[in-house]
Amino acid sequence: MASFLPMRIGEIQRIADTVVTITLEGVQGSPLPSYEPGAHVDIRLPNGLLRSYSLTAPYDRTRPYTIAVHRGRASGGGSSYIHEHLSPGDEVEVSVPRNLFPLLPGMHTSVLIAGGIGVTPLYCMAQHLTAQRRPWRLAYAARSRGAAAFADALQTLASQASAGLTLHFDDEAAGHVLNIENLIKEAPADAHFYCCGPGPMLDGYHAACSALERERVHCERFGGQAIQAASGSFEIELTRSSRTLHVGPDQTILDALLDAGIDVEYSCMQGICGSCVTPVLDGEPDHRDAFLSLDEQAAGDRIMICCSRSRSAKLVLDR
Ligand code: FES
Repeated sequence: MASFLPMRIGEIQRIADTVVTITLEGVQGSPLPSYEPGAHVDIRLPNGLLRSYSLTAPYDRTRPYTIAVHRGRASGGGSSYIHEHLSPGDEVEVSVPRNLFPLLPGMHTSVLIAGGIGVTPLYCMAQHLTAQRRPWRLAYAARSRGAAAFADALQTLASQASAGLTLHFDDEAAGHVLNIENLIKEAPADAHFYCCGPGPMLDGYHAACSALERERVHCERFGGQAIQAASGSFEIELTRSSRTLHVGPDQTILDALLDAGIDVEYSCMQGICGSCVTPVLDGEPDHRDAFLSLDEQAAGDRIMICCSRSRSAKLVLDR
């Protein structure tokens, strides 16, 4: 399990139609733990939910953390709670930052591709790249100008850095979507690509990057696909603890492990954050997460145990 710190809500500021930024201040008087661009924190809300949010700005030991929270129509109760109930001064528990979407070092061009609130980690990366005088370009698709968090700040940053910025607003695009294939084709030969957005955008991104070396293709998926209801039962064999457990039709693998008293790392419980990833040694996973790429899911050697299930009667897990 990630370790958590007590933190206090500082400023809450509306920056787009359905997006607020929130500063999180330490309450223990010492500098907050450091992180690299692309990192996120998990917040344990007073209503019991645990939610993951990317940090919007590079680490500065003199400043609080800042996250951006989009209140989506499909909110599972986390972002709507934050928008409706949290106020400056409230205390929440916040995990030490973790980074599942790191920016690689080097002077190659970084091509950042954002959809909706997926812009958050990329905005942090763009600030860092600018400070490091490294080349970058960014394409950002949002429903409308009013819905586009950080659009003005990105325009200012891009002009300071002489970086390319493409803003795509669905309601001004006559039914066209952001052309990711062109972004890939037009990039320098050594460019690295970073994409964060909803599931359909990530699927298009992976298709457009299919001919590239995997090391140059980076992504973070958020809430892209609803987690389907559990169904069917199966067995899990745990090689490290030499145990076999039954996973019932209304249970997740994570539930079965926790019920059996086995300590496991997890966070979002939504197939988004990647913290519950578990190696698969045998059997066929039924992937229902929004974290692994389609290629990674097809490889079948890892599973997100908070939501994914099994197509075979038994899964053998390195756990
Ligand atoms: S706990 Fe976040 S993906 Fe499983």
